Amino acid sequence: MKNGKEESPAPSSAKIFNTPTPLFNLMSYFLFFGLGLAIGLIISFSLNIQLKQFFVPTPDQTTSPLPIPIANETKKINRIGLKEYLKPPKVAHDMTDEELLWRASMVPRVGGFPFKRVPKVAFLFLTRGPLPLAPFWELFFKGHEGRYSIYVHSHPSFNATLVPQSSVFHGRRIPSKEVQWGKFNMVEAERRLLANALLDISNQRFVLLSESCIPLYNFSTIYSYLMGSKKSFVESYDLPGPVGRGRYNPRMKPLIKMEQWRKGSQWFEMDRGLAIQVISDRKYFPVFQKFCTPPCYADEHYLPTLVSVKFWRRNSNRSLTWVDWSHGGAHPARFWRVAVTVDFLKKLRNGSHCHYNGKSSNTCFMFARKFLPNALDRLLRFGPKLMKFN
Ligand SMILES: *[C@@H]1O[C@H](CO)[C@@H](O)[C@H](O)[C@H]1NC(C)=O
Ligand SMILES: *[C@@H]1O[C@H](CO)[C@@H](O)[C@H](O)[C@H]1NC(C)=O
Ligand SMILES: *[C@@H]1O[C@H](CO)[C@@H](O)[C@H](O)[C@H]1NC(C)=O
Ligand SMILES: *[C@@H]1O[C@H](CO)[C@@H](O)[C@H](O)[C@H]1NC(C)=O
Ligand SMILES: *[C@@H]1O[C@H](CO)[C@@H](O)[C@H](O)[C@H]1NC(C)=O
Repeated sequence: MKNGKEESPAPSSAKIFNTPTPLFNLMSYFLFFGLGLAIGLIISFSLNIQLKQFFVPTPDQTTSPLPIPIANETKKINRIGLKEYLKPPKVAHDMTDEELLWRASMVPRVGGFPFKRVPKVAFLFLTRGPLPLAPFWELFFKGHEGRYSIYVHSHPSFNATLVPQSSVFHGRRIPSKEVQWGKFNMVEAERRLLANALLDISNQRFVLLSESCIPLYNFSTIYSYLMGSKKSFVESYDLPGPVGRGRYNPRMKPLIKMEQWRKGSQWFEMDRGLAIQVISDRKYFPVFQKFCTPPCYADEHYLPTLVSVKFWRRNSNRSLTWVDWSHGGAHPARFWRVAVTVDFLKKLRNGSHCHYNGKSSNTCFMFARKFLPNALDRLLRFGPKLMKFN
């Protein structure tokens, strides 16, 4: 009876130890507890030592005030932040046009930049092969690194490795495709150039040039003119007659009406916002691709019409590239060696009238075409002094 009463509070322990007397039971409890405590202490002590050995104190974790500034500095230097994200891909990447346009169309929705951004001018050279006037451009760019970027689209058969390593044009050729005069692939090449330049978040203004183009002012003047402009420079005008409205195809209706049809020079200058709109257009582009075939030349109508219909508020409707159409015909006048004089260059710089940011101005053209390769030596002789290159 007694045994049964004693056993009842701890029946399981009795079963485990299977001991008959309560005294022995109590002693074994103490022994068990003491052993456990000792083992626990030993383990925790040795673990503590091991942990201390593993985690060698880093400058970060020390409590002494002296090493803190060092940690601060190394952290700053090694910080990745947005660096990896903002790094533009190699100019000679292997993206398809579809992949390129998709990537280039991405826009941050938060205004401003959480880093220091020096806006750059992207010079987009649409060429057949080499750039014969490159030495003049080299002088123009000299000393202005970090405020411009160059992209070259040339015929796929052109061997770009021939561009000297010392040249600003070296390694700046984008993956290019064949372009034929008056064909729609000219517009595709322009979009390809814009899209490649958009991959660099620093590029703010985009100017299309050919191998026969020259600058008319020094870099700092052109940079200020472009960065300071509230508008883009896509020439756009309504021209009655066969080479204007005559090129309109009624099958473009209802998207494009005759009254909306515009003409203009392909040599544009535009801001980043407009460039993104142009490469993202999926509505007007296919219609021009299908219906603007010779004698309709898409490079003279696609951008002038698109910009005039959708983005006219941001456009000045004029081109920054001077050209001479005075003698008529399908091609503008070309300038060879003897045509290049100081007076001629002065006239191009200050012989016109236009509006700039709402004010009347005589400074209307930043660039001029079409200069033949043999004009180079005279350009090198008169240009830098007249245009105040540094
Ligand atoms: C450490 O960082 C703080 C905050 O970014 C900064 O104000 C301080 O100048 C830095 N100190 C050093 C030594 O770089
Ligand atoms: C381009 O020119 C370099 C040097 O002259 C030559 O080694 C290379 O084979 C050429 N590449 C092509 C595709 O013609
Ligand atoms: C440019 O042309 C469009 C029509 O195509 C017109 O609405 C706009 O006012 C013009 N802008 C300037 C600055 O002349
Ligand atoms: C530009 O031409 C106008 C007259 O057409 C003249 O008043 C002005 O001084 C000229 N500016 C320069 C910088 O030559
Ligand atoms: C660029 O030309 C302007 C005048 O046209 C001159 O005032 C300026 O100093 C020149 N810039 C440089 C960097 O030489």
